[in-house]
Amino acid sequence: MYRSVIRGAGSYLPEKIVTNDDLSAFLDTSDAWIQQRTGIHSRRIAEDDEYTSHLGIAAAREALENGGISAGEIDLIVVATSTPDNTFPATAVHVQGALGIKQGMAFDVQAVCSGFVYALTVADQFLRTGQSKKALVIGAETFSRILDWTDRTTCVLFGDGAGAVVLEGQASNGNPQERGVISNRLRSDGIHWDKLYVDGGPSTTKTVGHLRMRGRDVFRHAVELASEVIDGVMEDGGITIDDVDWFVPHQANKRIIDATAKKLGLADEKIIVTVQGHANTSAASIPLALAEGVNDGRIKKGDLVLLEALGGGFTWGASLIRW
Ligand code: UT7
Repeated sequence: MYRSVIRGAGSYLPEKIVTNDDLSAFLDTSDAWIQQRTGIHSRRIAEDDEYTSHLGIAAAREALENGGISAGEIDLIVVATSTPDNTFPATAVHVQGALGIKQGMAFDVQAVCSGFVYALTVADQFLRTGQSKKALVIGAETFSRILDWTDRTTCVLFGDGAGAVVLEGQASNGNPQERGVISNRLRSDGIHWDKLYVDGGPSTTKTVGHLRMRGRDVFRHAVELASEVIDGVMEDGGITIDDVDWFVPHQANKRIIDATAKKLGLADEKIIVTVQGHANTSAASIPLALAEGVNDGRIKKGDLVLLEALGGGFTWGASLIRW
């Protein structure tokens, strides 16, 4: 068997910064409300001609460079996104084409805010069996395109961005002390679909639609469901919460992050938090936070890193990685 070792991480954020005060200029909201309820101070918003694939390509290039891997070595690209450039083809093939990759396969995974954990798990399956050798896993989103900018209950919460990791399948004897993805748990329950969804699509309205969310209902489930998969990956990996060096959760709301960490008994210093400057970038939020933690020197080789996300569907999942 092989294990999927993370070789590099990268990210890209659009240049345009939109603060809470900018939003309160046209919306009945305030910096105080948004900061107090979510921890968000500002978010990045892509320009009209800046597409999800562009963000993903920039993040992928940085991840490849940081990992010392050339694009030509990649034989699998999985892009997690709910805001693809086109209904089809997959955003992943745009990335593949732009990077000049002529081999292997590229496809998208759609699990909304859990998308990165889903995509990582899918790539891990290909690498573990040796079917692929080197993979790019990207979370890239332009949620600004599907927001109803007159709905203060949703539009203040989201932002645009992309993050990526490069993984390599390396021979392993399954020891959790060895580098690589140790365990993943994915879950979904479609009964919750209408708590967080987009009210359009090719087959229903023939439009893109807008994001709709019953925020309080999502909040109510987030901590409990996240804890279930976190316990699962720790059990599978034979480790305890005290072994975890870094908790890198989906960045939807600082209050959800804090409540989850408290339930787990994790110290604040072990949590990577980026929601204040990124807002919720859906599938991009975890790889953006990972890239920040790695590039500023907090996450180091050999550290035990715990990822967790919950999103529309509901979908949820967790991954445990020896960095
Ligand atoms: O990434 C996928 C997962 N998504 C999430 O994790 C989001 C989960 N949910 C949340 O983060 C929170 O539920 C929210 C941040 C969306 C909302 O926070 P809350 O503490 O649950 O507030 P609420 O929905 O109970 O609303 C409280 C009040 C309401 O007014 P009334 O009915 O009490 O008079 C809202 O109308 O706040 C009002 N409100 C706002 N006020 C100012 C809602 N949005 C805003 C706003 N500015 N932007």
